[in-house]
Amino acid sequence: MPYPFQITSYDQYKETYKHSVEQPDEFWGGVAENFTWRKKWDKVLEWDFRKPDIKWFINGKLNITENCLDRHLAQAGDRPALIWEPNSKEEAHRVITYKELHTSVCTFAQVLKNNGVKKGDRVCLYMGMVPELPIAMLACARIGAIHSVIFGGFSAQSISDRLQDAQAEFIITGDGAYRGGKDIPLKSTIDDALVSCPFVKKVIVYLRTHTPISMIKGRDVWWDDEIKKVTAHGNISTEAEEMDAEDPLFILYTSGSTGKPKGVVHTSAGYMVYTTYTFVNIFQYQPGDVHFCTADIGWITGHTYIVYSVLCAGGTSLMYEGLPTWPDAGRMWDIVDKHKVNILYTAPTAIRSLMAYGLAPLEGKDLSSLKILGTVGEPINEEAWHWYDVHIGKKRCPIVDTWWQTETGATLISNLAGVTPAKPSYATLPLPGIQPVLVDEQGKEITGNDVSGNLCIRFPWPSIIRTTYGDHERCRTNYFATYDNMYFTGDGCYRDENGFYRITGRVDDVLNVSGHRIGTAEVENAINMHTGVLESAVVGYPHDLKGQGIYAYVIMEADPEDAKLTQSDILQTVTRVIGPIARPDKIQFVKGLPKTRSGKIMRRILRKIAEGEINNLGDTSTLLDPGIVNEIKEGRI
Ligand code: WTA
Repeated sequence: MPYPFQITSYDQYKETYKHSVEQPDEFWGGVAENFTWRKKWDKVLEWDFRKPDIKWFINGKLNITENCLDRHLAQAGDRPALIWEPNSKEEAHRVITYKELHTSVCTFAQVLKNNGVKKGDRVCLYMGMVPELPIAMLACARIGAIHSVIFGGFSAQSISDRLQDAQAEFIITGDGAYRGGKDIPLKSTIDDALVSCPFVKKVIVYLRTHTPISMIKGRDVWWDDEIKKVTAHGNISTEAEEMDAEDPLFILYTSGSTGKPKGVVHTSAGYMVYTTYTFVNIFQYQPGDVHFCTADIGWITGHTYIVYSVLCAGGTSLMYEGLPTWPDAGRMWDIVDKHKVNILYTAPTAIRSLMAYGLAPLEGKDLSSLKILGTVGEPINEEAWHWYDVHIGKKRCPIVDTWWQTETGATLISNLAGVTPAKPSYATLPLPGIQPVLVDEQGKEITGNDVSGNLCIRFPWPSIIRTTYGDHERCRTNYFATYDNMYFTGDGCYRDENGFYRITGRVDDVLNVSGHRIGTAEVENAINMHTGVLESAVVGYPHDLKGQGIYAYVIMEADPEDAKLTQSDILQTVTRVIGPIARPDKIQFVKGLPKTRSGKIMRRILRKIAEGEINNLGDTSTLLDPGIVNEIKEGRI
């Protein structure tokens, strides 16, 4: 068997789980033996959730890219590492072998050094879904620089906030990116962001769309020119920086319940070990399998299950530049057919939107290569689960429902494909090493089965968040202070009579729109920046396609003369401040908001109204002005 730590039966899962909980050091030490280290660790784990201070594989030395690349060269150098399917069907796809990827990464690592990037520096990546994005990530990791990928849909303002928070002096971007019928203007957005970031020293630009852009002398350089300077010298150095197990690998910003996104920090060794462990077990990966994760690398799913875990396992990762429904609703199935995809990992939102096109787009598409299907990012409704099972998997492909978060680095709760039982809309059982706990509002553990509560984890796993960049206290208060001595996920959860877990959604002020996390406070801040807006309150509501939609209640200084126009102006402001993903689906102008006497907005009431549950608002007697509720009910959209 290629992976000694691959679990292949339900009984073995149960034994492994027991061992992992009873002897975590021995268990994870054993898994870590399967990786390449410059120097092994002295101790597996030290931790204190109250600070939090969590260290894995203490004093171990390694470079994650030697695990992703170098160690496969001898046996599997000619195996495809990345298969890239372009946005346009007319353009040729690219296959990049392990040898080629290794060379590209080493070459670009030298480019980074030539441009002054050093170990520990933060490098922001704002790129489309081209192979040069994983190449740039790995090149950063090769020299010990910390990458921070920003999703291509974020606005200049969002980029600027993140650059300032990370004090990133280097940027890698493209002239533009193709996404469906659109060309996304990456470089010009970066230029707008940099107006408020004078500390940025270098911008490396990858040519993709031939969009006219401005190149600033001394600051902006072309990717290809810089590569040529390195290759002109002939010998490319393959040296990799020796990293400590706990050196940061990357920062990834994510939304929380406050207005400002947090820079989640992951470190080298723990992230490597746990992500690879989960990949091989959940997807039952076999060398040669083509793994297609449809996420964007700008999110954690892409980091973990397109780039790092797949490459560490010597796997073949398919990345797609465009949209699943472009140029038509059959594109995903074309890709599966064309590249003989074995594992398809996507979001419930994508499944629901493809479902809406009916079965015609599937006609003539050979999906027989598929072995395993997966979902991630949001709860999957049973209807979508069954459609996926019947029409895509033809009832012969196990479906894994993987629950996890940016902060967890990789999946914590999921069935293992074909090995442990699946149950529609359930993430089912914890991975080895993961100890879920349900707690009530007071923090008391809820034991037994057939119970619901807030989901916490009581013991660390190797890829747990270490800190929030530049503000450790924020990490503590957000994740480790709500419940004593536990990591709090922010999710609600039900444990059924058999002990299977079903994630029911966020219990904090975080929305999950099409599998993307957005904080209500962030959206409110953006709306409040619009001229004439006095105050706003944003809540989520069930949305057929997106899972959750965004409903905004807005108080204006004066009644808008043209409500429709003002609504679209507000949408424009939100797009400018955050990006199109945060645009509210509905905007209702209101005269006031339901507040308690202490001035707190009663979101529970606003949520119910947005959901259409207007006859069951609960107790409104504590409101400062109960009359306002009727008015809001009447104006409901
Ligand atoms: C939600 C994405 C139900 C959850 C990997 C979590 C899920 C948030 C699932 C994290 C799932 C993720 N079932 N809900 N299988 N997977 N979620 O950080 O609310 O973008 O807290 O990470 O997505 O979103 P994030």
